[in-house]
Amino acid sequence: MHNVLVTGGCGYIGSHTAIALMEEGCRVVIADNLSNSDARSIDRIEKITGLRPVLERTDISDAEACHQLFERHAIDAIIHFAAHKYVNESVREPLRYYRNNFVSTLNLLREMQLHQVRHFIFSSSCTVYGEPDTLPVTEESPVKQAMSPYGNTKQVIEEILSDCCKADENLHVIALRYFNPIGAHPSGEIGEIPHGIPQNLLPYLTQTAIGIRECLSVYGNDYDTPDGSCIRDYIHVYDLAKAHVCAMNRMMRKQQKQNYEVFNISTGNGYTVLQLIKTFEKVSGKKLNYKIVGRREGDIPKIWADTRKANEELGWKAAYDLEDMLRSAWQWEQRMQQEG
Ligand code: NAD
Ligand code: WQD
Repeated sequence: MHNVLVTGGCGYIGSHTAIALMEEGCRVVIADNLSNSDARSIDRIEKITGLRPVLERTDISDAEACHQLFERHAIDAIIHFAAHKYVNESVREPLRYYRNNFVSTLNLLREMQLHQVRHFIFSSSCTVYGEPDTLPVTEESPVKQAMSPYGNTKQVIEEILSDCCKADENLHVIALRYFNPIGAHPSGEIGEIPHGIPQNLLPYLTQTAIGIRECLSVYGNDYDTPDGSCIRDYIHVYDLAKAHVCAMNRMMRKQQKQNYEVFNISTGNGYTVLQLIKTFEKVSGKKLNYKIVGRREGDIPKIWADTRKANEELGWKAAYDLEDMLRSAWQWEQRMQQEG
């Protein structure tokens, strides 16, 4: 049984991953400063798994607090979700993003050295591909100049991890490049809880459907896509969670081909915003109030993943389709309304 430190484990993807790990028999310690989540995630995880993960309310960008965390717990592997994640916010507040995302990662790497922790999974993003020249994107597709400080933190942290692996053959790292995670746990007990006005499509859409927001703006219908709206590769958050378990098993079983590896994690299917809205209307039975507005600055017209490497080498494949993702997101939105 492995002891896994899940940083940012009260957040959206981290909480689902904690569940997937616990279902595999791992002991989970969550370190979260609750800057974008709340401690009720722990109750929800317990309700689903029957087990309560340890919660350390720790800001891992605080070097001493991070050190104490490693003194208190014997850790076999780390899954590092904790970061600020909003692209627009990062443009307005670059220093806050650079400080939190870099310093947290550097603190963890330092403590890993001190405590001989040798397995690390990093939450990276398809944002590293920028606007791709060819589709689908493979792990070999070029990493483009970052379009935001947030994106830059993902690129530079990948480089830092790669350099550390070159310098230390005992260190094992997997960077998972997520595409667009959406949806909620199949139990309906846990999901995304956006703080403030949602910046991503799905929470804005479900909040519109339930009446919290008046109208969803679709950013552009004049792109070179079948209906003119942007194409993304959406992935069910619980499929994404399970990819972390596969990545951890690969490291622990010493199956890595190199000690630093990168995988695209998604379904490999691209959908336009308007296709997604239609599918949502079908699974929810609700008519969505939306309007077409101008393009959003910085949006990539289309991107989807080549997932063969993850399918073949990680032995992982997405199980849920777009309807499943949207059904679970809608179920979760309704659940949040009931809870008030
Ligand atoms: P989230 O905001 O829901 O979760 C992040 C968690 O980290 C939050 O609970 C927050 O309180 C915590 N946190 C932030 N800074 C911290 C610190 N210094 N110390 C301790 N805890 C801290 O975000 P998410 O959507 O679950 O994303 C998780 C990771 O995946 C992030 O690294 C994000 O960049 C990456 N990612 C997300 C997406 C996406 O669309 N959601 C896509 C690609 C990559
Ligand atoms: C999806 C599509 C919008 C909101 C972001 C980050 C990326 C990664 C995933 C972390 C786009 C359209 C959106 C709305 C809309 N995150 N849209 N109306 O931009 O693909 O990626 O999250 O690493 O780095 O940039 O996700 O959910 O914002 O947008 O029409 O109100 O929905 O134009 O085509 P995006 P998103």
